[in-house]
Order: sequence, then C-alpha cells, then structure tokens
Amino acid sequence: NWSLENLIENKIKEIKETVGNSKAIIALSGGVDSSVAAVLVHKAIGEQLKAVFVNHGLMRLNEEIEVKKIFNELLGINLTVVDAQKRFLSKLSGVTDPEKKRKIIGEEFIRVFENEATNEYEFLVQGTIYSDVIESAASGKNTAKIKSHHNVGGLPEDMKFKIIEPLRNLFKDEVREVGKLLGIPEHILYRHPFPGPGLAIRIIGEITEEKLNILKKADHIFIETLKEFNWYNKVWQAFTVLTPIKSVGVVGDERSYDYVLAIRSVDSVEGMTADWSKIPFEILEKASSRIVNEVNGVGRVVYDITSKPPATIEWE
Ligand code: XMP
Repeated sequence: NWSLENLIENKIKEIKETVGNSKAIIALSGGVDSSVAAVLVHKAIGEQLKAVFVNHGLMRLNEEIEVKKIFNELLGINLTVVDAQKRFLSKLSGVTDPEKKRKIIGEEFIRVFENEATNEYEFLVQGTIYSDVIESAASGKNTAKIKSHHNVGGLPEDMKFKIIEPLRNLFKDEVREVGKLLGIPEHILYRHPFPGPGLAIRIIGEITEEKLNILKKADHIFIETLKEFNWYNKVWQAFTVLTPIKSVGVVGDERSYDYVLAIRSVDSVEGMTADWSKIPFEILEKASSRIVNEVNGVGRVVYDITSKPPATIEWE
C-alpha cells in the first residue's frame, strides 16, 4: 500500500525530529493500537524509546509470555516487563464492586507506571486513533492522558509529558495495515478488543488466583474453538465470564458442585451497541464439553443471549 508506506516514512521522520536526543516512554498493553504505536516509534528512535508492559496478571492465558516474545524476539524491542501480579491481586482481594475494581486497577497501574516513567523521559507515546479523538471530542474529555475507558486509568496531572500520538489520524483498518507493513503478526492486529481491567471484570464478585486460573483456561478453550471453526473473525468480541454461582452435577457416580461459567460473544461495530452472536450450536457444544471436561472447577456452561442495550457487553 503505497500511501500508507509513505505515511509511515513521514511519521518516522517527524518523530525523529520531534524527539531529537530526548527519550520517550510508552505503556504497551498488547492490544493493536499501542503495539503499532510502539513499533512505529521504535523504528524512528530505537532505544530512546522505553516500552513498558505492566503485567497485572489479569490478561488472557500466557499473554504476558507471548507479548514479551513478540516484542523482544520478533520486533527487536527491548520490552520492560513489570511483574505486578501479586500487587494487583492483593489490592483486589475482597473487592466485589465492579467500579471499585476498575478504580483500584487504574490507580495501581499509574503507580507502577510512575516508577518507570522517571523525568528522564520527556515524551509519552500513546496509541490514540482517530475514533478515540472523535469520541473524546464528543464527550469533552481531554485526550492528552490515557483514556479511562479504553485504556487503564488516567495519568495524574503532575506527570508532565509531551504527548506523541502517531496514529491520531488513522482509522482502525489503517492502523492494522500500518501494523502489517511494520511486521506485527496478524493475530495481534486482528484480535478482539480486551478491556483494560482485564479478567477482573469477568470474574463476578471476588477475584482469587484460583478463579483467575479457571477463567484463563476456559477463555482459551472458547477462543480456540471459535478459531477452529473459523468463527473468531466473524464475531466482534468473544470471551467467558466466571460467575460466583455453584451448581450441582454428576461426574462418574459422584455428585459435583462447581462454578457456572458463561460464554459471551457479540457482533458490533464500535461496541456502543451489540447483538449476541448467532454462533452455530456445534461450536457452542464443543466449547461447552471441552470446558467442563478440561477445566477443573467449572460444572456448567451457559450462553449469554442478551444484546446491548439493555445489557452491556461485559458483565461488570
Ligand atoms: P460494555 O461492557 O461497556 O463494553 O458494553 C463496551 C466495550 O468496552 C470494553 N470495556 C472496557 N474497556 N476499560 C476498558 O478499557 C473498561 O473498564 C471497560 N469496560 C468495558 C468492553 O470489553 C467492550 O469492548
């Protein structure tokens, strides 16, 4: 794509000039936008960019390992991984209110990031894309901070960075094209949206390590099954939700009493409204039987057939 290649070249030149001999920092989430922004800026200023990946332990199965591998090995970016799993889990211990969970995660994220973002760094790179700009303008929000909804919490006012937003004028599909041209693997570029607070808002009620492990495994099986039947790219977002409800079952001759897990898949354009996906029964059947057989702790699987509105996409 000639014009996008041109755009990349111009951006790289522009970023080089802007940053000069200074240093920049970016918080990488593993999502499409921050990944493309990081790779683009890295192309421009190399090791003057510090890419920070905060592992809060609330991501999909093995995601931290995968992100590390892709950025370090494939893309040659020296990723700073902060293992903050214990920290987040202990802050979240006993918390059941969804908004409280979001607040805690946002605040912890800032604390962890602040440790990394010393005043050695003059610039903050953000993966803001055109739809974010429009959204923020519509809601009167200031874009010169990490958005509270799509990313993890806002940065405090006293963090005085100059902001670099290299994807600000691009639509999502253009961001993906740029990513492709920069060598980012397709499964990163075409993955479903994932909320900043991660699995914390997909475990209804209290979050424990045990529940996180159950949810990660179940989610992985559902996504694997969708891919196996070529349905992953047909839906906008798909995931599983761990409820605090336990339900009776039979395993062999024994009575079991395990968690009810919900499968959620929606068709949407931007997430503002959504229809539940009409996934063929054979896919649901396979996912359900694999989950109850392979994931200890789940005894029953249900499919969420509610659209947005009135339900939201996430359960919390
Ligand atoms: P809802 O549940 O509001 O979700 O219908 C709409 C889209 O936003 C994502 N979502 C979030 N993303 N922080 C995020 O970064 C959040 O707190 C959050 N809550 C929901 C959700 O996954 C869906 O894509």
